[in-house]
Order: sequence, then C-alpha cells, then structure tokens
Amino acid sequence: MSTRPYVIDQMISAKAIAARIEELSEEIKQAFPPDQRIVVVGLLRGSFVFIADLVRELRDRDVEVDFLEASSYGDGMNSSREVRILKDLRGAIEGRNVLVVEDIVDTGHTLNHVMHLLESRNPAKIRTIALLDKPNRREVDFRADWIGFEIPDEFVVGYGIDYAQRNRNLPFIGKVRFTD
Ligand code: IMP
Ligand code: MG
Repeated sequence: MSTRPYVIDQMISAKAIAARIEELSEEIKQAFPPDQRIVVVGLLRGSFVFIADLVRELRDRDVEVDFLEASSYGDGMNSSREVRILKDLRGAIEGRNVLVVEDIVDTGHTLNHVMHLLESRNPAKIRTIALLDKPNRREVDFRADWIGFEIPDEFVVGYGIDYAQRNRNLPFIGKVRFTD
C-alpha cells in the first residue's frame, strides 16, 4: 500500500515506556492471586513488543503466553466497526486468570468484541491492559483496566504499532506527521 510522505515525531520515549511498564506490572501482580498462573493474551500484531516487555516484568509469576488476532484496521488509518477473529487462542481459558494485552484502544470496537468473546468462555478472572488510549475517539463504551498512556487523537507508530505495516520496530512511540 502506498502512503503519503511523512516524518515521525517522538511522543513517548523508550525510557518512559519502560518506567510505566514497571509501575503497571506491580498493579497487575496485586490484581491476580500470586500462586496461580496468568494467561497473558497478546492481540496481534501491534502488542508484540509490549507483551514481550510486560511478561519480563512479571518474571516472578507463573505466566503462559497466548495470542489472538482480530482484524480492524486493515492496512490504512481508518478503523472498521466490524471485528473479525483471524487467529484464535491455542489454549482454553475456562476457569483461568487472563490478562489481555492490547497496543491501543481507539474506537474501542476491537477490545469490546474480543472481551465479549473471551468472557463467554468463562475465565475465573479477566483483565485488560492497553499501552495507549485515545479516549476522544471512542465509539463504544469500553475502558481497559490499565492504561499506559492517554494520548490525543493522533496517529502513532512504533513499539509494535504500524502505519501500513511499517515502523513497528521503532523503540519509542512517535506521531505521524504528513509532509505533503
Ligand atoms: P479500535 O477497534 O478502534 O479500538 O482499534 C484498535 C486498533 O486499531 C489497535 O489495536 C491498533 O491496531 C489500531 N490503531 C488505532 N489507533 C492507531 C494508531 O494511531 N496507529 C496505528 N494503529 C492504530
Ligand atoms: Mg491492533
């Protein structure tokens, strides 16, 4: 897909992200029983960097990692209201403690849909964490249990998050600024 010319302005540094994840991991640990396994579910593909850093902050817990892929954005910048499951979990979650990890809550459709699906499988406890939240964009009433950073209505990339599949490998969160 071709994109308009753009530059990336840093919005959240790698250092700030790491510090926030350390804080959030302490809260997460308090929310789950210390002697029980946590199934950490990453939503592909945008959460892959976040989940990698997050589970390493949970190194003193019994953690299982699973992934789920839902479609919403396609390759462009416009979210769609129709959410489809492209890849389901490998494992069962009934009776288990689950933490769902997302990159960004934007309109809210993706996590809303995914949470309804996963709750219908009767986990013992299910919580959500999103690295970024754009509350001004919300179309459905959805709130993650933990948010890394609230951001304004800007299109962002980096730290796993893409624009037309590019820039996932930046270590920081940057804002896309068009130059045309
Ligand atoms: P929602 O269903 O509108 O909440 O969309 C959430 C999904 O849209 C996220 O998981 C991202 O993959 C994608 N998304 C939302 N905002 C951005 C952005 O600023 N940059 C890149 N992807 C985004
Ligand atoms: Mg996503």
